[in-house]
Amino acid sequence: MTTSEIKNDIFLRALKGEITERPPVWMMRQAGRYLPDFMKLKEKYPFFERVQNPELATEITIMPIHQVGVDTAILFSDILVIPQAMDCEVQMIPGRGPVIPNPIRSMADVDRLITPPAEEALDYVMAAVRTTKQALNGSVPLIGFAGSPWTILCYMVEGQGSKDFSVAKGFCYSQPEAAHKLLQKITDITIDYLKAKVQAGCDVIQVFDSWGGLLSPEDYQIWSMPYIKQIADAVRPLAPVILFGKGCWYALDSYKAAGASAIGVDWTLSPQKARELVGEQTVLQGNFDPSKLLSPIDVIEREVKKMIDGFGGKHYIANLGHGILPNIPVDHAKAFVNAVKNYH
Ligand code: CP3
Repeated sequence: MTTSEIKNDIFLRALKGEITERPPVWMMRQAGRYLPDFMKLKEKYPFFERVQNPELATEITIMPIHQVGVDTAILFSDILVIPQAMDCEVQMIPGRGPVIPNPIRSMADVDRLITPPAEEALDYVMAAVRTTKQALNGSVPLIGFAGSPWTILCYMVEGQGSKDFSVAKGFCYSQPEAAHKLLQKITDITIDYLKAKVQAGCDVIQVFDSWGGLLSPEDYQIWSMPYIKQIADAVRPLAPVILFGKGCWYALDSYKAAGASAIGVDWTLSPQKARELVGEQTVLQGNFDPSKLLSPIDVIEREVKKMIDGFGGKHYIANLGHGILPNIPVDHAKAFVNAVKNYH
């Protein structure tokens, strides 16, 4: 199935910079979390089994297409498959999140990490892409994703989730040479991985820099942006690339300069301000506060219209400003999607 054979291609047209009849809509982290059918699978299979079993990953990926009506699928997987492929163990502890039992803390640790061909080390992801494309049967496109090298470093060095990732930041500032070597290793395997994902059938790539906002604007240009730019440069010839950084309003112009097909925005920036920063022609994606989906449905409808108007209605992909939360009623997620579809 090539990209040109996709029936609902509104998302792909928007990414090309075309004016669409309404904004396309999807929700970050839409596969999983809040859907009751997902919760049932979650009770039965541990996290990485869901990720590594192509049939389960496919089933979860297509759930929101049928149940919520979004304009694109995003592969059910995780950004932390990259450390695993590098031979850095990652566990997912229910109620606690990711845990790296042997975090990276020295140059010797960095040197021990391997960068095998992604096709081989992450063959299960490629299998999941292929089975998902078959199941979608050309209905909507499929997004493949990766974490930014900086965000992956945060987990690999800190060893777990954190509010400030102070150990990871301390590693960069005290052992800059080792930190840059680690970032480059992550970048190399991520480029190979994303190319393989496109080869396997992904139509679009999104890079999540979930922890980019922990860096000052100046440090962002040292520790995150150069590596994201390498990824964007390598993948852009093959597929549209969306760059999303949480808390990275100061980097929107850098994402634009890196040739992003679309730029993700979180809710700490008003739609109008985001537009001012990148101009009318740049495709923006976002930025509904995920918690606001707990509002009554008529409020969601009103706020969605306000958001779309704020972005100017065109060169725009409707989305949340970060991942959907597990406590969002499905009806409210649907109301969000329908409010975009009914926009005029
Ligand atoms: O749309 C989707 O949900 C697709 C799949 C997806 C997952 N993780 C599945 C998942 C995506 C796109 C991700 C990306 C991801 N993973 C990011 C970047 C996006 C973001 O939210 O900022 C990050 C930082 C991670 C790392 C990660 N994975 C954490 C911190 C956690 C625990 C907390 C949580 O629930 O987010 C995970 C686990 C995880 N990844 C779950 C899911 C559905 C929940 C655990 C489970 O299902 O057992």
